[in-house]
Amino acid sequence: MKKLTVFGSFFEDLCGKGPYLPKPGETLIGTEFTYGPGGKGSNQAVAAHRAGADVMMITKIGKDPYGKLVLDFYDNEGIDRSHVFIDENKATGIALILVDENTGENLILVAPGACHNIKTEDVQSIQDMIKNSDMLMVQMEVNMDATFLAMEIANESGVPIIMNPAPAQKIDDKYYRMIDYITPNEIEAEILTGIKTDSEENIKAAAENLFKKGVRNVIITLGKQGVYIKNSIMNGKVPAYNVKTVDTTGAGDAFNGCFAAGLLEGMTIDEAADFANAGAALSVTKPGTAPSMPYRKEIDKFLK
Ligand code: RIB
Repeated sequence: MKKLTVFGSFFEDLCGKGPYLPKPGETLIGTEFTYGPGGKGSNQAVAAHRAGADVMMITKIGKDPYGKLVLDFYDNEGIDRSHVFIDENKATGIALILVDENTGENLILVAPGACHNIKTEDVQSIQDMIKNSDMLMVQMEVNMDATFLAMEIANESGVPIIMNPAPAQKIDDKYYRMIDYITPNEIEAEILTGIKTDSEENIKAAAENLFKKGVRNVIITLGKQGVYIKNSIMNGKVPAYNVKTVDTTGAGDAFNGCFAAGLLEGMTIDEAADFANAGAALSVTKPGTAPSMPYRKEIDKFLK
């Protein structure tokens, strides 16, 4: 089985639900509080693993109860966590999430803690893992100097890179040339390119912009509209699946994890996007982030 290395964040998600999302300065009585494993990197690793990929998770956690919880979680899932770093001083990162229980929309603030303390020595110590992978998946929730170093190691060894640029930050053009697949949503595409993604034409222009910077395959995720793909042979949409939404948190992560799993199985880019759209659709029908990632048999059944 092909090996996916996910170099990214783990955060404990602390999630409150309410009848709407409060405005700045407003205190709102909510209806439910839950907590569980999250972080974009970790969610994507879980999604890829449940979709059938062989996943190695690389992240950094604190020496605290949240750190212990996630190690147990990876063991229960069967995810290789032998290269999860433990920080002696920083706490495990957390995400404060508010969910509107009527629309499923959310607001998220993350405090990355140990995840912003991954050192270059840490990355160097796992360079053989990266070099021996069939794909490296990164996001933007871990400190970027560590992320860039992981990308450089992969790039030098010809390991394809998939980057989910979330939460979006501008990066030097030289890093775009290392990326085989980039998967921003509309807001992230706008931040990266400076092009307002408010129409089909502008979404195309944003995709073209990233493609011209050297990314081999640009996949802009459009929520209920599906995804827009631009590469040297394809220029068009793969539609989403329509389902009843319970909680959209982590839908992008479900897409990314399933997309990587699909590509590693040998699916073409549009087949992998369709497979990942199904994974994302199933994830929004359940509450939570990592726990809402669908299993392969659910995706296969849904696609039938
Ligand atoms: O994409 C959803 C994730 O974003 C949450 O799990 C939260 O931890 C933040 O990283």
